[in-house]
Amino acid sequence: MKLLASSSLLLILISCFLNKIFCLESMKSTPAFRSHFHAVEVSSLSPASVCTSSSVIGSNKRQSTLEVHHMHGPCSQVDQDKTKSTTKPSLSEILAKDQFKVKSLQARVNPSSTTTNNLNDKKRDLPVQSGQSLGSGDYIVNIGLGTPKRMLSLIFDTGSDLTWTQCEPCIRSCYRQQDPIFDPTTSTTYSNVSCSSNECFELSSATGKSPGCASETCVYRMQYGDDCFSVGFFSKERLTITNDVFQDFFFGCGQNNQGLFGNTAGIIGLGRHPLSIISQTAPKYGKYFSYCLPSTSSQTGYLTLGKIGLPNNVKFTPFATYNSQGKSSISFYFIEIVSIIIGGRQLPVFTQSTFKTIIDSTTVITRLPPKAYSILRDEFRKMMSKYPTAPGYSILDTCYDLSGYRYVTLPVITIVFGGNVRVDLAPSGIVIVISRTRVCLAFAANDYESDVGIFGSTQQKTLEVVYDVGGGYLGFGPFGCK
Ligand SMILES: *[C@@H]1O[C@H](CO)[C@@H](O)[C@H](O)[C@H]1NC(C)=O
Repeated sequence: MKLLASSSLLLILISCFLNKIFCLESMKSTPAFRSHFHAVEVSSLSPASVCTSSSVIGSNKRQSTLEVHHMHGPCSQVDQDKTKSTTKPSLSEILAKDQFKVKSLQARVNPSSTTTNNLNDKKRDLPVQSGQSLGSGDYIVNIGLGTPKRMLSLIFDTGSDLTWTQCEPCIRSCYRQQDPIFDPTTSTTYSNVSCSSNECFELSSATGKSPGCASETCVYRMQYGDDCFSVGFFSKERLTITNDVFQDFFFGCGQNNQGLFGNTAGIIGLGRHPLSIISQTAPKYGKYFSYCLPSTSSQTGYLTLGKIGLPNNVKFTPFATYNSQGKSSISFYFIEIVSIIIGGRQLPVFTQSTFKTIIDSTTVITRLPPKAYSILRDEFRKMMSKYPTAPGYSILDTCYDLSGYRYVTLPVITIVFGGNVRVDLAPSGIVIVISRTRVCLAFAANDYESDVGIFGSTQQKTLEVVYDVGGGYLGFGPFGCK
């Protein structure tokens, strides 16, 4: 038996010299190959035409769980109204928006960086129609606001803190949204927050802009990249998450709103700041939450608040601290990437230092330092060399024409985080399907080595991502959702 195994290995080795392709085919049957490569049905990487709900592991034991769905696609309610002629954004519009999002995150983290100064140069690189409701690659949850409660579909964002929704009377401007616009005059629990309150003062660090004051009422200003903002009254209201009720939840009641928020009613801010929903609900959920983003827009994921009932196969990496000009950034969740392994090969990407990265639910594509990205890309290209290439697409420069293939063999990509936490990305976290003739590596390079990295939503797909904010750890569990 042993002899047979070693002689077949010899045969494989000999055939490797003879024919590279045959080598790959034969090696597929060896255990090492199986653990370093995924054989994936190409069609499984694209959404189906009907929505399938993912079951939540241990859902009966979990504390408070909300369904998460992609902004576009068959699981989205905000995308259902075909009579309203909002056109679905193209992927290139989504990626252009993604670039703005990354620039504005990096500008907030490091205000004097070259990136900030070059914000306007970059604007010309990517087409985006400003002020139009383009929507994006974002994920949505529903929460209740006011008394009686109104349900609102909000984008959930781990990269910001303030929760806001568009509010009547929309003094300056509201974009079109699916839900009726929240009207404070019809709620018995609404109140304005005064300019002299401590919470008003805290807005500066939550939004990165100092608050205004309009006849005693505190005014917030939240900006997400260019031409994308919400300004309005800072307010207090009753918040309902599943069956849990929170009095006096601080949020933004938007009177001037513009940008790429699709047909959603606004944003729910899951950052680390004292004004985030995570801090404000801490008495109930202990600053603990987790979520799973589905592999395609035809599946649902979830957002669980609180620690109770989470699976025990989660591995934890410590949050990193990040200081810029002596100030530590209190909003973002920083983690450290130590290394990347592709197809079983550990890349010499971060030999000098680890790489500080923000984990963000609203950035679509992971951003790496330019050198690290090019090493990863070159290795990926080598391992994908049997597939015909296709032209690049927007910020993605490594694409393949898979129209002639039912299955594709992708190298497993493992991200090694601080504390030697190894996380295998799902196939849907490695490539993004623009069409069958253009399937692209779903990573991109930052402009400068010194820019902070972003661990984006594509790479988080199907993982259960656990935030132990109080304890200072971020966890990853496999197979959180489909
Ligand atoms: C909140 O403040 C604004 C601006 O001062 C005012 O127009 C509005 O009537 C106030 N709402 C309530 C409920 O006090």
